[in-house]
Parts: sequence; structure tokens; C-alpha cells
Amino acid sequence: MPVSRGAKRLKVAVVGLGFGAEFVPIYRDHPNVASVTLCDPRPETLKHVGDRFGIAERFVDFDAVLDSDVDAVHLVTPIPLHGSQALAVLNAGKHCACTVPMAIALDDLHAIVAAQRHNGLTYMMMETAVFTREFLFAQSLMREGKFGTVSFARGSHLQDMEGWPDYWMGLPPQFYMTHAVAPALHLLKTRAARVHCFGSGRLPRDRAARYGNPFPVETAIFRLAESDVALEITRSLFQTVRLYTESFAIYGDRLGFEWAQLEEEAPFVFSLELERAGRGRAITSTRVEVPDRADLLPPAIARYTRAFTHQDGAHPSFVQGGGHGGSHPHLVHEFLCAILDGRPPAIDAVTAAQWTAAGICAHQSAMQDGAAVAIPDFGL
Ligand SMILES: NC(=O)c1ccc[n+]([C@@H]2O[C@H](COP(=O)([O-])OP(=O)(O)OC[C@H]3O[C@@H](n4cnc5c(N)ncnc54)[C@H](O)[C@@H]3O)[C@@H](O)[C@H]2O)c1
Repeated sequence: MPVSRGAKRLKVAVVGLGFGAEFVPIYRDHPNVASVTLCDPRPETLKHVGDRFGIAERFVDFDAVLDSDVDAVHLVTPIPLHGSQALAVLNAGKHCACTVPMAIALDDLHAIVAAQRHNGLTYMMMETAVFTREFLFAQSLMREGKFGTVSFARGSHLQDMEGWPDYWMGLPPQFYMTHAVAPALHLLKTRAARVHCFGSGRLPRDRAARYGNPFPVETAIFRLAESDVALEITRSLFQTVRLYTESFAIYGDRLGFEWAQLEEEAPFVFSLELERAGRGRAITSTRVEVPDRADLLPPAIARYTRAFTHQDGAHPSFVQGGGHGGSHPHLVHEFLCAILDGRPPAIDAVTAAQWTAAGICAHQSAMQDGAAVAIPDFGL
């Protein structure tokens, strides 16, 4: 059963209402939320989302959120804004949740970690990949020691960003790689310490100009701190025809877990039959229907782990919930509980910086044709 946080309730703002709109009804329905405020510079978006979810408190101006009496701000804005907006939220004395990545420059990561340490507020990166049904299942196998000694891990996030908003055009692929790197680092409870990365393919000159990045694809291999495991990560954004996949695989000497090739398929567990030793040992594969962990959530938001058709007499019906392996309500609940319990959230500022810096440093390596790049340790 979820832990009760009593009657304490927080005022929350959701900033950026594209993907951010997904989170609005979850906050609205959470028992520890007093009010939800919306912010987006596009008035029509603000009206559409506000009307749909019955939220009256609305701002077109981000600074108005900073000046308001909200306790916590969840940023779901364009990637280049994450660093400066997270700093502004923390410096305004408010708790901050931010969608991935934390920022796209190492200086911003250092500044956010320092600001969080300085004022003691909660910062959480809302990394969906470590609250999916699949991840929670692999995590339970890891906690039970089922993998044995882990030897290798891999992650990939392949997505065609053609036609997406302007700030994606030419983005270094590893700048947005937290979905691919986070599961293995979280399972192994470590950080990436060093990286070798190669760029692959060639962007047209005009697309390469914005971020000074010539690569549509980058593939990296990481040395992990205090671990014998090497972690391989591939990320593609352009010029790579492949259905969407955001996946991880992890292999031990007793068990392997592998995300399916396609989104709608169930993952595989590989098991070793220990009693048959010697040449050609038997390894079995099982497709597992991973359990939904709505049981970890307050009943009022449990339904958001699954897609359902929302029907309301006043508005047309629409599909809500279930995105990213059912992770959204878990993220919201963890952020709010961390604030109310006065403890670090599952993905605190240091963890967010370690995961994000892995990608920034991978791109630095790709720009030096695979030279080793050391990744800063933000926990020092
Ligand atoms: N699985 C995941 O974790 C996941 C999935 C999708 C998107 N994202 C992240 O969420 C963010 C938003 O994604 P999206 O697809 O909705 O992007 P988008 O660019 O389509 O929408 C961003 C929204 O933010 C608003 N906005 C722009 N500038 C703003 C400002 N200064 N203040 C407040 N709002 C502002 C825009 O009007 C728009 O409504 C991105 O950073 C992306 O990386 C994460």
C-alpha cells in the first residue's frame, strides 16, 4: 500500500503543454495536490489544455510562474530551455521536476547540482525509462539476485525526428540519450565514468550547422565506475529507417533480460538451465507479460498507468494515460512524495547530471573520432 503523506498538499505548476499535458490530470487527481497551474506561451494551447482538464489558473509567461505562490514546477519545455529554466525555478525557491534531458551543457549540469545543494529544494529529472513496467520488472529480478554476476548491458533509442520542432534539427543524438543509458546505470547502481563514441552517417551541411554536429547517429561504449561491465548505447535521430524503439538489455551469468524489437511486443527473459553443464548448455527464452505496478500508486491516479478513454459530458472523449510503459503517474507520485517526505527523489540532481553528462561527453568523444572522454562525477 502507498505510504500516506497525510493532509499536506502542494501547489504545482506544469510548464509546457505539448507532452506536458499528459501530466496535468495526474497532478489534478493526486491526493497531495492542492492546485494545478498551467503555463504555455501559446494561448490556444493553454486554453485547450485548461478547458480539457478543468484548470482555471493559467499563465502565458514563465516569469509569472516564478512570481506565483506555487510550491513546485514541472518543466516540459523545449530541450534548450531545460537548463536555464530549472535554475530559475530553484532560484525562485520552488521545487523542480524537469523532463529529460537535464540540460545540454556540462556547465548547466554543474550549476543545477550546485543550486539544489545550496537551497536544499527537491530537483527530479522525470526519466520515464526507469518507471516503465518493463524496468520495474527487471529491477525486481535484480533485487532478487536473479541475474547472477552481470557481464554486459546495452541500450538503444532509435527515433525518426524528421518534421519535429526546430530545436531537434541537428541535435547531437547523444544529447538526448538518457532513456537508453538510465536503465542499466540504475540497475547497476553506478555511473558512466569514461566513454568512447563514434558518429555514424552524415547530416546535410545546413542541418549540421545549428549545433555543429555532423552526425544523425552516434554509438558509444562506456566504462562504468567501480564495475566490470561495459555499457553500449546507440542513438539515432535522422536518416535511419527504423520503427521507434527505446530499449535496454542486461545480461548476467544466470539470467538475461532483453526488451523486445518492437514497442508493442513483450520483452524476453533468458534463463540458464544450471543442471545441464558443459558444451551446448540449455538456455530458454520466455516472453514475459510484465505486471502493471498501479498497486504502488494512490488509487486516485492508479488508472493513469493504462490508456483509457476519458469521457465527460461537456467535452469530446479522448484517450488518456498509459504513455511510456505506464511511467507517468509513478514519476508524479515520486516527485511529490520526495518533497513531502523531505528525502532525495529517485532521480535526484546528481543522478540526473550523471545520466545526462554521459551523453554530452559521448558526443564530445564522437567529435574526436572516438577518443576517450572522462565523464565528471557530480557526486563529489
Ligand atoms: N519520454 C519522455 O520523457 C519524453 C517524451 C516526450 C517529450 N519529452 C520531453 O518533453 C519536452 C517537451 O516535448 P514536446 O514534444 O511537448 O515539445 P514541443 O516543442 O512540441 O512542446 C513544448 C511546449 O512548450 C511550450 N513552450 C515553449 N517555450 C516555452 C517557455 N519559454 N515557457 C513555457 N512553455 C514553453 C511550447 O509552446 C509547447 O507547447 C522536450 O524537452 C522533450 O525532450 C520527454
